[in-house]
Amino acid sequence: MTRFYYCLALCLVFVAVIPAFAGDPTAAYEGQRLFVSHCMICHGADGKGGGSLAQEMGLNPVDMTRTLRSRSDTILKKIISGEGGQTISGRDRHNVLTEAMPNWGEVLSEYQIDALIAYLRFLSTAKHEMMGDPVEGRDLYQKYCAVCHGEEGYGDGMMTKILDLEPMDHTNPVVMNGMSNEDIAEAIREGDGQYMPAWVGILGDEEIEALVSYIRLLAQ
Ligand code: HEC
Ligand code: HEC
Repeated sequence: MTRFYYCLALCLVFVAVIPAFAGDPTAAYEGQRLFVSHCMICHGADGKGGGSLAQEMGLNPVDMTRTLRSRSDTILKKIISGEGGQTISGRDRHNVLTEAMPNWGEVLSEYQIDALIAYLRFLSTAKHEMMGDPVEGRDLYQKYCAVCHGEEGYGDGMMTKILDLEPMDHTNPVVMNGMSNEDIAEAIREGDGQYMPAWVGILGDEEIEALVSYIRLLAQ
């Protein structure tokens, strides 16, 4: 165990001195930020259509958590960018979107639209609320967790190369949806098994909640 903590300390030092270690954020994470700034005002935080602007303008965005399952990525790209007259097959109302849904192709890049689609897919399959701020969560994750769980959450961080560890893979949506927010928060607070450290005393409740939300965005 002493050797383990020595290695952990060494890795945390590496992390502190190599800023390049923080990799590119996942698509769903980028998409979440764009959704909050561009779409939530009409579609609502949960994607069900109850956003404040939609209510004020008397618009009726669909409940995306129900419709998206039957839409391919190609169709979603067209709907969001406004390309091709926003035709959606399989839609009752003349198969065409009303003009109430803005054309985002003019202001968002292709990468941003792909990121939004990743987040919309996450929204329509997620079974748990976001309990904290994922932006804060990402910083904390890169600082304290990526060393074992891997930058993208696959459970393949650099510590797994020098010690016999099997950190949880956070990218599996079935496993992650099977854990409640409180299950994850408790695992972070109290630790798990021999190698998952207990973070109580190092991280406060708000930081742990932020981490839970970020970890959810790794599953896709
Ligand atoms: C001004 C309000 C408004 C904003 C902002 C807005 N939408 Fe919409 N959106 C709508 C309305 C209204 C509909 C439903 C249109 C219809 O039924 O014809 C819609 C429909 C959609 C659909 C089709 C859902 C389906 O399955 O039929 C998608 C996907 C969508 N919006 C994505 C987005 C994204 C992504 C953003 C942010 C980049 C966004 N919307 C921002 C109003 C808005
Ligand atoms: C020193 C390596 C290490 C670090 C650092 C680490 N973990 Fe872990 N973590 C593990 C291992 C190993 C497991 C699997 C434990 C087991 O199954 O015995 C695990 C399991 C977990 C689990 C699942 C627990 C369960 O009940 O199945 C969660 C959630 C988790 N870690 C979150 C985090 C978060 C968040 C951080 C950063 C604050 C973090 N871990 C930092 C090694 C680590």
